[in-house]
Amino acid sequence: MARYAYVNGRYVPHGEAAVHIEDRGFQFADGVYEVVPILGDCMVDAAPHLDRLERSLSEMKIEMPVSRKVLELVMGELIARNGVADGLIYMQITRGVAPRDHKFPSGIRPSIVMTTKRVQFLTQKKISDGVKVITIPDIRWTRCDIKTVALLPNCMGKSEAAAAGAYEAWQVDRDGFVTEGTSTNAWMVTNDNKLLTRPVGPEILRGVTRQSLLRIASEEGLAFEEAAFTVAEAKAAREAFVSSATSFVTPVVAIDDVTIGDGTPGPLSRRLQGWYLDYCEGLKNSA
Ligand code: PDD
Repeated sequence: MARYAYVNGRYVPHGEAAVHIEDRGFQFADGVYEVVPILGDCMVDAAPHLDRLERSLSEMKIEMPVSRKVLELVMGELIARNGVADGLIYMQITRGVAPRDHKFPSGIRPSIVMTTKRVQFLTQKKISDGVKVITIPDIRWTRCDIKTVALLPNCMGKSEAAAAGAYEAWQVDRDGFVTEGTSTNAWMVTNDNKLLTRPVGPEILRGVTRQSLLRIASEEGLAFEEAAFTVAEAKAAREAFVSSATSFVTPVVAIDDVTIGDGTPGPLSRRLQGWYLDYCEGLKNSA
């Protein structure tokens, strides 16, 4: 089956898809992106992902290149053309093409690119067995709430994790509190079974999966608090996990080689994982 990408209004074969060398996304990372998971032919939480896309664009003073309605139609069309039942849709909007100059140019049209990828998320070992994380200093800027494509510190952190045999790196602020992973939000469960995750603010991305999990926790009557936690607290946690559009609820079984719990995914993490997947399944049935 041919694989298509969507580039500025056209569906083109993936291998031929290209943008201009003076696209500001390429030269300045002057753009934003979203990743929407697809499970069993159904997009998960597409609306909040598009809400966040619009917010990121507005914070960077980039216009939406097409209406939200058109964006939704293109997403559906690309998934259908590429026959993706399980996987993800990636979309990126940059300020557009202009001669290289730091100041924002006026009168240019934003560039939009969309691709899909097939992934069998639920059979991944990380979901069943959990993962290790390392901790690293958070060296990013002070607007991590904007989902920009400027991900170099995140790539450095993820690579450091991989080199250490870990899945993720938890970034740590100057006061010793965990901000978030390089591509995930960070969670822990205290010894009295309370869920903790950092409150939203400019230091972290407002994870869509995070938000759904907080809602589920509240519906299920779990004790939870949006509160920052230190590395020391995380290492002494009963359980820990990460969340994102592509890792769902992925249990954390070790932090910097300190075993969490008994070194296997904790019961609360498992239950949340199950509830979250039930929620995704429910979206499919109500679509
Ligand atoms: N990453 N924090 C960061 C820094 C992220 O990049 C992501 C998502 C999250 C989780 O957000 P959400 O639940 O909305 O996916 C938190 C995506 C998946 C990525 O870059 O591929």
